[in-house]
Amino acid sequence: VRPEKCVVAVDGPSGSGKSTVSRRLATRVDGVYLDTGAMYRAVTWAVLQAGADLNDPDAIAKIVLETELSIGTDPAAPHFAANGTNVDAPIRGVEVTQAVSAVAAVPAVRKHLVSLQQAIIAAHPRIIVEGRDIASVVAPDADLKVYLTASSAARAARRSAEDASDVAATEADLARRDKLDSTRKTDPLKLADDAVEVDTTGIGIDEVVAYVLNLLNSKVKS
Ligand code: DC
Repeated sequence: VRPEKCVVAVDGPSGSGKSTVSRRLATRVDGVYLDTGAMYRAVTWAVLQAGADLNDPDAIAKIVLETELSIGTDPAAPHFAANGTNVDAPIRGVEVTQAVSAVAAVPAVRKHLVSLQQAIIAAHPRIIVEGRDIASVVAPDADLKVYLTASSAARAARRSAEDASDVAATEADLARRDKLDSTRKTDPLKLADDAVEVDTTGIGIDEVVAYVLNLLNSKVKS
């Protein structure tokens, strides 16, 4: 499958399989991959680095707007840097994971990152974009909108297999973040009207990728 042009939005909660599915899809269509969650994580790293108060949205916004991001879009190696420092490891760490929902809830932060995301999308003919608000806000004209879900137990099991954390603690942390992400005022996580919902509980990754590629095939010209 190598469409001339395709923008695919992949939204869903943490641990639903978005990253793995999106990276594989990008490789299969010979396109690029944009991990918008990693962008929120990278600016959160910069906010923590600057020692800003997480209860002060103005202070958070100021730092985020001053942060120089380098955003990797190679699905095989999507490297990120903030202010010249590679942040691939720390953005997956517990400090950033704990703080990211607070930073992602600041409207000025979202506005800034959404405009960066839209510029990246405009610059690439084939792109798979994963996040929470891609179908609704970032790319409302996407060729295909997929919403991945999975049971909370399946999502926690996947996350703890990735980072060797305790399953019960991970499930509690996912529930906490899902609640923050879906109840925030600006661009909460929600299922777009024209998105296809795919429940990945108990389904192998290859099957999910094949299913989404089929959907894409029926929507775009190769
Ligand atoms: O997908 P992730 O766990 O790496 O996302 C990190 C956080 O960023 C998550 O708590 C929600 C937020 N996020 C967001 O608000 N909007 C996006 N488009 C992507 C992520």
